[in-house]
Amino acid sequence: MAITGVALGGFVCVHLAGNLLLYLGPEVLNAYAQSLHDAPYLLWPLRAILLTCLVVHLTCGITLHLRNRKAAGRYVKRDYRTASLSSRNMLLTGSVMLLFVLYHLAHFTLRITDARFAQIGHTDVYQMLVLGFQSPAVTFFYVLAMVFLGLHLQHGLSSLLQTLGLNGPRYNRWLSSGGYTLAWLIMLGNMSLPLSVYLGVVK
Ligand code: HEM
Repeated sequence: MAITGVALGGFVCVHLAGNLLLYLGPEVLNAYAQSLHDAPYLLWPLRAILLTCLVVHLTCGITLHLRNRKAAGRYVKRDYRTASLSSRNMLLTGSVMLLFVLYHLAHFTLRITDARFAQIGHTDVYQMLVLGFQSPAVTFFYVLAMVFLGLHLQHGLSSLLQTLGLNGPRYNRWLSSGGYTLAWLIMLGNMSLPLSVYLGVVK
Protein backbone atom coordinates (compact mmCIF):
# COMPACT_ATOMS: atom_id res chain seq x y z
CA MET A 1 0.00 0.00 0.00
CA ALA A 2 2.78 2.38 0.96
CA ILE A 3 4.77 1.91 -2.26
CA THR A 4 1.74 2.32 -4.53
CA GLY A 5 0.69 5.26 -2.31
CA VAL A 6 4.05 6.93 -2.99
CA ALA A 7 3.57 6.47 -6.75
CA LEU A 8 -0.02 7.76 -6.71
CA GLY A 9 0.84 10.65 -4.37
CA GLY A 10 3.84 11.47 -6.59
CA PHE A 11 1.52 11.62 -9.59
CA VAL A 12 -0.87 13.95 -7.72
CA CYS A 13 2.07 16.31 -6.93
CA VAL A 14 3.45 16.32 -10.49
CA HIS A 15 -0.08 16.71 -11.90
CA LEU A 16 -0.71 19.68 -9.60
CA ALA A 17 2.60 21.29 -10.58
CA GLY A 18 1.61 20.95 -14.27
CA ASN A 19 -1.91 22.28 -13.66
CA LEU A 20 -0.60 25.31 -11.77
CA LEU A 21 0.84 26.46 -15.12
CA LEU A 22 -2.73 27.67 -15.68
CA TYR A 23 -1.68 30.81 -13.80
CA LEU A 24 1.09 31.47 -16.36
CA GLY A 25 -1.41 31.70 -19.22
CA PRO A 26 -2.64 29.66 -22.20
CA GLU A 27 0.70 29.49 -24.07
CA VAL A 28 2.60 27.95 -21.16
CA LEU A 29 -0.12 25.48 -20.07
CA ASN A 30 -0.94 24.37 -23.60
CA ALA A 31 2.76 23.93 -24.50
CA TYR A 32 3.10 21.65 -21.47
CA ALA A 33 -0.01 19.65 -22.52
CA GLN A 34 1.33 19.46 -26.09
CA SER A 35 4.70 18.13 -24.88
CA LEU A 36 2.91 15.31 -23.00
CA HIS A 37 0.80 14.40 -26.01
CA ASP A 38 3.94 14.45 -28.20
CA ALA A 39 5.59 11.75 -26.09
CA PRO A 40 3.28 8.69 -26.31
CA TYR A 41 6.26 6.35 -25.69
CA LEU A 42 6.49 7.95 -22.23
CA LEU A 43 2.81 8.63 -21.61
CA TRP A 44 1.44 5.12 -22.18
CA PRO A 45 3.96 3.22 -19.98
CA LEU A 46 3.36 5.83 -17.24
CA ARG A 47 -0.40 5.38 -17.60
CA ALA A 48 0.02 1.59 -17.33
CA ILE A 49 2.15 1.98 -14.15
CA LEU A 50 -0.40 4.38 -12.68
CA LEU A 51 -3.32 2.04 -13.40
CA THR A 52 -1.44 -0.93 -11.90
CA CYS A 53 -0.66 1.11 -8.77
CA LEU A 54 -4.30 2.13 -8.48
CA VAL A 55 -5.54 -1.48 -8.72
CA VAL A 56 -2.94 -2.73 -6.17
CA HIS A 57 -3.66 0.20 -3.83
CA LEU A 58 -7.41 -0.46 -3.99
CA THR A 59 -7.02 -4.20 -3.42
CA CYS A 60 -4.69 -3.69 -0.44
CA GLY A 61 -6.98 -1.00 0.99
CA ILE A 62 -10.08 -3.19 0.87
CA THR A 63 -8.16 -6.19 2.30
CA LEU A 64 -6.79 -4.06 5.14
CA HIS A 65 -10.22 -2.63 5.90
CA LEU A 66 -11.82 -6.10 6.08
CA ARG A 67 -8.98 -7.36 8.29
CA ASN A 68 -9.32 -4.38 10.65
CA ARG A 69 -13.07 -4.83 10.84
CA LYS A 70 -12.68 -8.51 11.66
CA ALA A 71 -10.15 -7.75 14.40
CA ALA A 72 -12.24 -4.92 15.88
CA GLY A 73 -15.44 -6.98 15.73
CA ARG A 74 -14.59 -8.60 19.04
CA TYR A 75 -15.06 -5.32 20.90
CA VAL A 76 -18.57 -4.35 21.97
CA LYS A 77 -17.80 -0.62 22.25
CA ARG A 78 -15.25 1.36 20.25
CA ASP A 79 -13.44 4.12 22.08
CA TYR A 80 -10.99 5.86 19.74
CA ARG A 81 -7.97 7.28 21.55
CA THR A 82 -5.42 8.01 18.86
CA ALA A 83 -7.22 7.25 15.57
CA SER A 84 -7.97 10.53 13.77
CA LEU A 85 -11.05 11.29 11.68
CA SER A 86 -9.04 10.82 8.47
CA SER A 87 -7.51 7.50 9.58
CA ARG A 88 -10.94 6.09 10.47
CA ASN A 89 -12.44 7.02 7.10
CA MET A 90 -9.79 5.95 4.61
CA LEU A 91 -12.21 3.62 2.79
CA LEU A 92 -14.79 6.39 2.45
CA THR A 93 -12.33 9.09 1.34
CA GLY A 94 -10.60 6.60 -1.00
CA SER A 95 -13.95 5.60 -2.56
CA VAL A 96 -14.85 9.25 -3.16
CA MET A 97 -11.43 9.73 -4.82
CA LEU A 98 -12.08 6.76 -7.08
CA LEU A 99 -15.45 8.21 -8.13
CA PHE A 100 -13.78 11.60 -8.65
CA VAL A 101 -11.05 10.10 -10.88
CA LEU A 102 -13.66 8.25 -12.99
CA TYR A 103 -15.67 11.44 -13.50
CA HIS A 104 -12.48 13.48 -14.03
CA LEU A 105 -11.27 11.14 -16.79
CA ALA A 106 -14.67 11.33 -18.52
CA HIS A 107 -14.61 15.13 -18.11
CA PHE A 108 -11.10 16.21 -19.18
CA THR A 109 -9.41 13.17 -20.76
CA LEU A 110 -12.26 11.55 -22.73
CA ARG A 111 -14.17 14.87 -22.90
CA ILE A 112 -17.57 13.21 -22.98
CA THR A 113 -19.40 15.17 -20.28
CA ASP A 114 -19.29 18.62 -21.88
CA ALA A 115 -20.40 19.08 -25.52
CA ARG A 116 -18.50 22.41 -25.80
CA PHE A 117 -15.13 20.61 -25.56
CA ALA A 118 -15.70 19.19 -29.07
CA GLN A 119 -15.23 22.69 -30.48
CA ILE A 120 -11.77 23.29 -29.01
CA GLY A 121 -8.38 21.90 -30.02
CA HIS A 122 -7.19 18.68 -28.42
CA THR A 123 -4.34 20.37 -26.58
CA ASP A 124 -6.15 23.59 -25.71
CA VAL A 125 -6.27 22.55 -22.07
CA TYR A 126 -6.44 26.19 -20.94
CA GLN A 127 -9.69 26.82 -22.81
CA MET A 128 -11.06 23.48 -21.62
CA LEU A 129 -10.45 24.40 -17.96
CA VAL A 130 -11.94 27.88 -18.43
CA LEU A 131 -15.08 26.41 -20.01
CA GLY A 132 -15.25 23.46 -17.61
CA PHE A 133 -15.13 25.50 -14.42
CA GLN A 134 -17.74 28.04 -15.47
CA SER A 135 -20.33 25.60 -14.17
CA PRO A 136 -21.09 26.04 -10.43
CA ALA A 137 -22.02 22.36 -10.08
CA VAL A 138 -18.73 21.15 -11.62
CA THR A 139 -16.70 23.64 -9.57
CA PHE A 140 -18.48 22.62 -6.37
CA PHE A 141 -17.91 18.93 -7.09
CA TYR A 142 -14.18 19.46 -7.72
CA VAL A 143 -13.73 21.57 -4.57
CA LEU A 144 -15.63 19.02 -2.46
CA ALA A 145 -13.64 16.13 -3.93
CA MET A 146 -10.41 17.95 -2.97
CA VAL A 147 -11.54 18.00 0.69
CA PHE A 148 -11.70 14.19 0.49
CA LEU A 149 -8.30 14.13 -1.23
CA GLY A 150 -6.86 16.25 1.60
CA LEU A 151 -8.30 13.94 4.27
CA HIS A 152 -7.06 10.84 2.43
CA LEU A 153 -3.56 12.27 2.04
CA GLN A 154 -3.47 13.52 5.62
CA HIS A 155 -3.53 10.01 7.05
CA GLY A 156 -1.91 8.39 3.99
CA LEU A 157 1.24 10.50 4.23
CA SER A 158 1.87 9.87 7.93
CA SER A 159 1.06 6.14 7.87
CA LEU A 160 3.21 5.77 4.75
CA LEU A 161 6.30 6.94 6.65
CA GLN A 162 5.50 4.51 9.46
CA THR A 163 5.09 1.57 7.05
CA LEU A 164 8.38 2.38 5.36
CA GLY A 165 10.04 2.59 8.80
CA LEU A 166 10.94 6.25 8.32
CA ASN A 167 9.59 7.25 11.72
CA GLY A 168 11.04 7.46 15.19
CA PRO A 169 9.96 8.77 18.60
CA ARG A 170 12.20 11.84 18.34
CA TYR A 171 10.90 13.15 15.03
CA ASN A 172 7.39 11.61 14.75
CA ARG A 173 5.74 14.93 15.58
CA TRP A 174 7.69 16.71 12.81
CA LEU A 175 6.93 14.01 10.29
CA SER A 176 3.23 14.04 11.02
CA SER A 177 2.98 17.85 10.89
CA GLY A 178 5.01 17.77 7.65
CA GLY A 179 2.51 15.24 6.24
CA TYR A 180 -0.44 17.38 7.32
CA THR A 181 1.08 20.50 5.78
CA LEU A 182 1.82 18.74 2.49
CA ALA A 183 -1.73 17.29 2.37
CA TRP A 184 -3.19 20.76 2.97
CA LEU A 185 -0.96 22.38 0.35
CA ILE A 186 -1.97 19.79 -2.24
CA MET A 187 -5.64 20.21 -1.34
CA LEU A 188 -5.54 24.02 -1.46
CA GLY A 189 -3.45 24.09 -4.65
CA ASN A 190 -5.97 21.84 -6.41
CA MET A 191 -8.97 23.75 -5.05
CA SER A 192 -7.52 27.04 -6.24
CA LEU A 193 -7.75 25.94 -9.91
CA PRO A 194 -11.53 25.50 -10.31
CA LEU A 195 -12.18 28.40 -7.89
CA SER A 196 -9.91 30.86 -9.76
CA VAL A 197 -11.71 30.13 -13.01
CA TYR A 198 -15.18 30.22 -11.47
CA LEU A 199 -14.47 33.49 -9.65
CA GLY A 200 -13.06 35.06 -12.83
CA VAL A 201 -9.44 35.39 -11.63
CA VAL A 202 -8.41 33.23 -14.61
CA LYS A 203 -10.26 34.02 -17.84
C1 HEM B 1 -8.83 20.19 -9.34
C2 HEM B 1 -7.70 20.10 -9.90
C3 HEM B 1 -7.42 19.34 -11.17
C4 HEM B 1 -7.42 19.83 -12.44
C5 HEM B 1 -7.71 21.25 -12.87
C6 HEM B 1 -7.05 18.74 -13.33
C7 HEM B 1 -6.94 18.84 -14.70
C8 HEM B 1 -6.70 17.80 -15.57
C9 HEM B 1 -6.68 17.90 -17.02
C10 HEM B 1 -6.89 19.18 -17.80
C11 HEM B 1 -6.41 16.67 -17.53
C12 HEM B 1 -6.30 16.29 -19.02
C13 HEM B 1 -4.93 16.65 -19.54
C14 HEM B 1 -4.80 16.39 -21.02
O1 HEM B 1 -5.49 15.54 -21.56
O2 HEM B 1 -3.94 17.04 -21.62
C15 HEM B 1 -6.29 15.76 -16.39
C16 HEM B 1 -5.99 14.43 -16.49
C17 HEM B 1 -5.91 13.58 -15.41
N1 HEM B 1 -6.09 13.90 -14.09
FE1 HEM B 1 -6.44 15.74 -13.32
N2 HEM B 1 -6.83 17.61 -12.58
C18 HEM B 1 -7.06 17.92 -11.27
C19 HEM B 1 -6.94 17.08 -10.18
C20 HEM B 1 -6.65 15.73 -10.27
C21 HEM B 1 -6.53 14.84 -9.14
C22 HEM B 1 -6.65 15.27 -7.67
C23 HEM B 1 -6.26 13.59 -9.64
C24 HEM B 1 -6.01 12.31 -8.93
C25 HEM B 1 -6.48 12.02 -7.74
C26 HEM B 1 -6.24 13.70 -11.09
C27 HEM B 1 -6.02 12.66 -11.96
C28 HEM B 1 -5.93 12.76 -13.33
C29 HEM B 1 -5.66 11.65 -14.22
C30 HEM B 1 -5.43 10.19 -13.80
C31 HEM B 1 -5.65 12.15 -15.52
C32 HEM B 1 -5.37 11.40 -16.83
C33 HEM B 1 -3.89 11.51 -17.13
C34 HEM B 1 -3.58 10.85 -18.46
O3 HEM B 1 -3.96 11.38 -19.49
O4 HEM B 1 -2.97 9.82 -18.44
N3 HEM B 1 -6.47 15.01 -11.43
N4 HEM B 1 -6.46 16.49 -15.23
